[in-house]
Amino acid sequence: MSSIPRTKIALIGAGQIGGVLAQLISERGLGDVVLVDIMGDVARGKALDIAEGALVTRSTINIEGTEDYSRIQGAHIVIVTAGLPRKPGMSRDDLIGVNAKIIVSAGTNIKKYAPDAVVIVVSNPMDTMTTLMQHVTQFPKHRVVGQGGVLDSSRFATFLSWELGVAVEDIHSMVFGGHGDTMVPLVDYATVQGVPAMVLLTQKYNGDKSKAQEVMDAIVKRTAGAGGEVVGLLKTGSAFYSPAVSALTMAESILRDQKRVLPCCVMCETEYNAGGHYTGVVAVLGHGGVESILEIPLSKKESELLKVSIDACKDNIQALKTLGFM
Ligand code: APR
Repeated sequence: MSSIPRTKIALIGAGQIGGVLAQLISERGLGDVVLVDIMGDVARGKALDIAEGALVTRSTINIEGTEDYSRIQGAHIVIVTAGLPRKPGMSRDDLIGVNAKIIVSAGTNIKKYAPDAVVIVVSNPMDTMTTLMQHVTQFPKHRVVGQGGVLDSSRFATFLSWELGVAVEDIHSMVFGGHGDTMVPLVDYATVQGVPAMVLLTQKYNGDKSKAQEVMDAIVKRTAGAGGEVVGLLKTGSAFYSPAVSALTMAESILRDQKRVLPCCVMCETEYNAGGHYTGVVAVLGHGGVESILEIPLSKKESELLKVSIDACKDNIQALKTLGFM
């Protein structure tokens, strides 16, 4: 009797984000999990802990932890969170040298053991590490994608919902550009059930457009610095729950072929005049990985800011080349 293979998800990195991912995948029954970490016992311990809760969570997935990359063989999707997180006062770019080494190691093993997988990169600086992952694996560009935009858009939506006093699920928001200080929250596309957020903000401030703009500017600024705000509070490590659910949303859209329209870091050739660079735009994710990139009209100012963001990532890529990683 021929059998249908079970969905297999490899998580590279069993730290804070990898652990939450494993837990969520188990609870949602999305697929079998292999947690890989150089700290093999940490991976084994987390896998065991999650497996031992399976009766209560009613989970039927298989989960294992290991330091052995060969166990990812046959994975449909690989989510990479291996790498150092920031400490207070650090920018994501400060992680570049140390995390590049880890990505080269992870990428080499993914290429060897899971050559048909779609890879989602979470490790920071994410846009640069996604570029490096594609370079190391040489996978087609639609099978290497970075997580940043889903999280940044969710942060933007959260702050808008608090300001407007509406449910966050009724907000649509998108953040383009790099997952860093130069990210570009798209104000004109921020809506509440299709109503521009700026219209509602202006109403809230009794028609005072400059006050509404001031409040929106503060929300945009807080969104760009949101990761650092969490780092500053945690002091040891960076955000882990929201990055995990964001990466999982992408994985789920790919594995279930949902074709969700999600802001994420994809290789743009002619799109947005990016000229063959990874950056955050909006894409359709399905069985094929990145199935298409939606080119939406941007204002002149947003186009300029996107270019600044792409140029910042180009500087990082140049640094990787100087360091001999590419
Ligand atoms: N292969 C596998 N795992 C590795 C490797 C490697 N070569 N190098 C390091 N790791 C593991 C570490 O042992 C650690 O368990 O990666 C894990 C990272 O976990 P945390 O330090 O808890 O970091 P986390 O909060 O999960 O963030 C991971 O995502 O958002 C980004 O900035 C963040 O770069 C960081 C990454």
